[in-house]
Amino acid sequence: DGALPEKGVLTGRRVVISAGGTRESIDPVRFLGNRSSGKQGVAVARAALEAGASVTLVAAHLEVAPPEGAELVKVESALELREAMLERAASADAIVMAAAVADFRPARRSEAKIKKRDDAPDLPIELVRNPDVLVELVRQRDAAGTHQVVVGFAAETGDEGGDVLAYGRAKLGRKGCELLVVNEVGTDRVFGLDENSVTILSKDGAAPEHVAGSKDEVARAVVGRLARALETR
Ligand code: CTP
Ligand code: CA
Repeated sequence: DGALPEKGVLTGRRVVISAGGTRESIDPVRFLGNRSSGKQGVAVARAALEAGASVTLVAAHLEVAPPEGAELVKVESALELREAMLERAASADAIVMAAAVADFRPARRSEAKIKKRDDAPDLPIELVRNPDVLVELVRQRDAAGTHQVVVGFAAETGDEGGDVLAYGRAKLGRKGCELLVVNEVGTDRVFGLDENSVTILSKDGAAPEHVAGSKDEVARAVVGRLARALETR
């Protein structure tokens, strides 16, 4: 039903939002990154501010300016983002994990710039798993026994194993968050664009809500759902 947040619907609420893409350091000059622009997460921060919330933006690499009025916490890697989120989430009414968090990081970070060597043509880089920040935030919330609302984002592609929504529903179950904003990614879709098309899935079994429009419009729909979830929890 695409409910838009009314003005002031989040007044007095604290919302902590992660946005952007993490960078996993290989050596002092190189990193593993991803194509997230941070636009959708920044739009959610803007929409939450418009709705009256006090907003903390935990920002990994952003290609857009953060909104004025948000408290900005800059991070680089998934581990830094994890620390910043777990600390600030403790006192928040709602959490939105819009950041693209690297699933893996180099097992070792070289203190010196890695040189190419003529006796070794290849450079294998070993990767280790990063913690799942969203799952840890849900666990922290459950341990504290609060009514905090946790929102995740998911980028999915359909394949022979299932369609985008089926993967989204399975991910919502695994993560344990209240809402999951699912978008379909492809080679030329979503990343860096101003338009988005998402389906908002809800743990409480409410019908999936499809929203297509600018990232600001999508953000307002997400904040509207978040506000409703806060009222009914
Ligand atoms: N996420 C996280 N910590 C990670 C990886 C992802 O908190 N280490 C969060 C993202 O911020 C997003 C949600 O989990 O809100 C879903 O991310 P996604 O990459 O779609 O899910 P994964 O569980 O990593 O599954 P996969 O990439 O294998 O599809
Ligand atoms: Ca992932």
